[in-house]
Amino acid sequence: MDILVIGSGGREHAIIRKLRQSPRVGRLYCAPGNGGIAQDAECCPVNAMDKAGMLALAKEKAVDLVFVAPDDPLGAGMVDYLEEGGFLCYGPNCQAAQIESSKVFSKNLMKKYGIPTAGYEVFDDPAAALAYIKSQNQYPAVIKADGLAVGKGVVIAQNEKEAAEALHSLMEDKIFGDSGNRVVVEEFLTGPEVTVLAFTDGKVMRPMAASMDHKRAHDGDQGPNTGGMGTIAPTPLYTEEIAQTCMEKIFMPTMEAMNAEGRPFKGCLYFGLMLTPQGPKVIEYNSRFGDPEAQVVLPLLETDFAEIVEATARGTLGDVDIRWSKEACACVILASGGYPGGYEKGKAITGLDEKGQAEGVEVIHAGTQYENGGFATSGGRVLGITAKAPTLEEALSRAYAAADRIHFEGCFCRRDIGARALGR
Ligand code: AMP
Ligand code: GLY
Repeated sequence: MDILVIGSGGREHAIIRKLRQSPRVGRLYCAPGNGGIAQDAECCPVNAMDKAGMLALAKEKAVDLVFVAPDDPLGAGMVDYLEEGGFLCYGPNCQAAQIESSKVFSKNLMKKYGIPTAGYEVFDDPAAALAYIKSQNQYPAVIKADGLAVGKGVVIAQNEKEAAEALHSLMEDKIFGDSGNRVVVEEFLTGPEVTVLAFTDGKVMRPMAASMDHKRAHDGDQGPNTGGMGTIAPTPLYTEEIAQTCMEKIFMPTMEAMNAEGRPFKGCLYFGLMLTPQGPKVIEYNSRFGDPEAQVVLPLLETDFAEIVEATARGTLGDVDIRWSKEACACVILASGGYPGGYEKGKAITGLDEKGQAEGVEVIHAGTQYENGGFATSGGRVLGITAKAPTLEEALSRAYAAADRIHFEGCFCRRDIGARALGR
């Protein structure tokens, strides 16, 4: 099977490295890819949102399957377009991807089908939203832009002033464009957060190992929200009992709700969960693998990933026996100084071999370019240093030991990845 993967970050590199292990996989292409991905696949300079360009590329390379990994092309109907062009695709179509691309859609879905989530109201008028928040007088208040907002559409307002500012920038200044035409105002939930990714073809639901992201830029969950500064899997906080509750109350009902709405979901469904004192509740759905969750979950998969991907696309996932390693995996992100704000690019990276790897770990490239025989930075999140070991402690110490041998100017990482999961 020749496969084209759409995207250019760490998630796509992790997907490609996992597909590479499969004896079923022939040629691998990535569009647009990055410097590290180019060591494992042929990178093609087509923008991830360019539907016509992607269809032409799929035809030119005569691929057997297209794996659409990022949220933007999924939300924009890339799968619909490529399927119409005759290609087998991994990923939900535009209608099903709305579970991520519209918060209003996903909240209304959960309400209609009784899936546990934070209480909420929807507003298209900032004055009405503010009046509601004032009348509730409960802080923090959570305000979410309806549409995609590069992971930055959620504001946790500590008081009325912050709420007013957030509503102004989302709905009037439209910092995320039309994504802020409507907002969801919801109840603030507390508890540890876990992510469960699940393989589904709309007929069966197969959860993967539960992972934990670290979204804030700095140690102790301080600083601004990022795309994710590191992950671990499995998380010990997600017990067998919680897993069973989630399967009964959240995962299966979500799959069935999407079917009932005429939007069967095929691909990777991402459940962002809060383990509240009242039980697990959905914080958000995503229509794709998480980044950097994919980096720690895929290495634990023992079954041929390409077999799962093809079966999902064909609707025969129920025929595949999916097995998981009992080991643990950790990923530490090395980021550019200043990220998630402004940062410089083009910094030379030292400590990698000529394939962009390092001893004892897997180095996943998120934002690198390859130039003059070496790697240089080209993004905010640069590398994900990933280690697998019999215990989480060991995986973390291996990842940090390797991370400490890799360097570029301005490089930083969080030193406390996994600490909460280990009860430290
Ligand atoms: P998101 O961009 O949707 O992943 O949200 C960013 C972060 O905001 C989440 O990872 C949570 O930590 C936090 N968050 C979102 N919704 C809520 C909520 N209802 N209560 C508390 N925290 C929330
Ligand atoms: N790591 C969070 C996400 O991929 O949305």
